[in-house]
Amino acid sequence: MRAAAASYLFAEFVVASSLRPLSMILPLAVAGSLFAGIAVASVASAAETMAVNEKIIVAHRGASAYLPEHTLESKALAYNMGVAYLEQDLAMTRDNKLVVIHDHYLDRVTDVADKFPDRARADGRYYVIDFDLDEIKSLNFTEGFNLVEGKRVQVYPKRFPMFASTFKIHTFEEEIEFIQGLNKTMGKDIGLYVETKAPWFHKQEGKDISRATLEVLKKYGYTSRESNVLFQTFDYPDLKYVKDTLMPELGVDLKTVILITGNDSHETYELKDGKWEPYDFNYLLNPDNFAEISKYADGMGPAYNMLFDLEKTTKDHIVVNDLVKNAHAHGMVVHPYTVRADALPEYATDVNELYQAILIDADADGVFTDFPDLGVAFLQKYQAEHSK
Ligand code: G3P
Ligand code: CA
Repeated sequence: MRAAAASYLFAEFVVASSLRPLSMILPLAVAGSLFAGIAVASVASAAETMAVNEKIIVAHRGASAYLPEHTLESKALAYNMGVAYLEQDLAMTRDNKLVVIHDHYLDRVTDVADKFPDRARADGRYYVIDFDLDEIKSLNFTEGFNLVEGKRVQVYPKRFPMFASTFKIHTFEEEIEFIQGLNKTMGKDIGLYVETKAPWFHKQEGKDISRATLEVLKKYGYTSRESNVLFQTFDYPDLKYVKDTLMPELGVDLKTVILITGNDSHETYELKDGKWEPYDFNYLLNPDNFAEISKYADGMGPAYNMLFDLEKTTKDHIVVNDLVKNAHAHGMVVHPYTVRADALPEYATDVNELYQAILIDADADGVFTDFPDLGVAFLQKYQAEHSK
């Protein structure tokens, strides 16, 4: 779990009960500007049910609670669970191919240490960028693990068994063809939610992952704000480069989401006076900056804890801060990450309480979850119960 936001930045309102009716919530919502196909909650009571209907579930790395993250098998399962978007995290290989993988390392989710024992860097990690695609495709992919005293220990013990069956890493192009193929056969239009992983790191290594990503998206027809894709990144300086330089140069204009984490994550670095320094994520949490941020981002993706005053929030007493309200006031939607039924925060007894806190109490427009089936079921049940 990433660190909580500096919640003192936001004014608060108290949600007395996490099960109160929607009519008590929506007066606090704003009439926001909309993504094509994604609406934020609007103020009119007649629109309440529609607003809930339009909230979205994003399959975080696929149906990653049930099958190893980011595998095509996991994406197929999530597709059939009724999500609006399937997420892709991207890293670049030595031979400049984009592969779908969360880390820019290979060692948490593959047998790279067995197959290429001499290819770790000094820090002990095996970097995607040090391997060619055919080498990466030779690896077996698995449910994620940590090394504890030299032994592989599964991160989420109740999930798919480590190294069971056979899974492989695939390219971004292969995944787009997979999803577009399913859209054709299933008669749906499920979107891509694409994250360039560590653009700053790829720049340090002489690679422009964002350019490569946009070029692939363009090749497959994702070129405009009407295209069913969201471009997300934790790297705000790179997002500015994407919007100011890359998109105009490539003749594309896609919707974007800025991801937010705590500074202790060291998720992003920026070049300052010729030196790479940790990026200060507090900039993205200060509402004074939201007008400027909204020039570059159509949405925000904070860790879900950032929506609440954690010092005051307890079970049955969810205290929401103003992050969503302020984002909506600047026309941005909010899609927090990541709901996991097997890693709940202290203030949620079960996963439905957490979906309720995020999607209803805090009024987020969607959520990333490892359990897409439970997210879809929550929204369907909520909508059915509140449409009478
Ligand atoms: O991109 C949204 C969410 O996936 C961010 O977390 O670290 O899983 O990419 P992460
Ligand atoms: Ca991601």
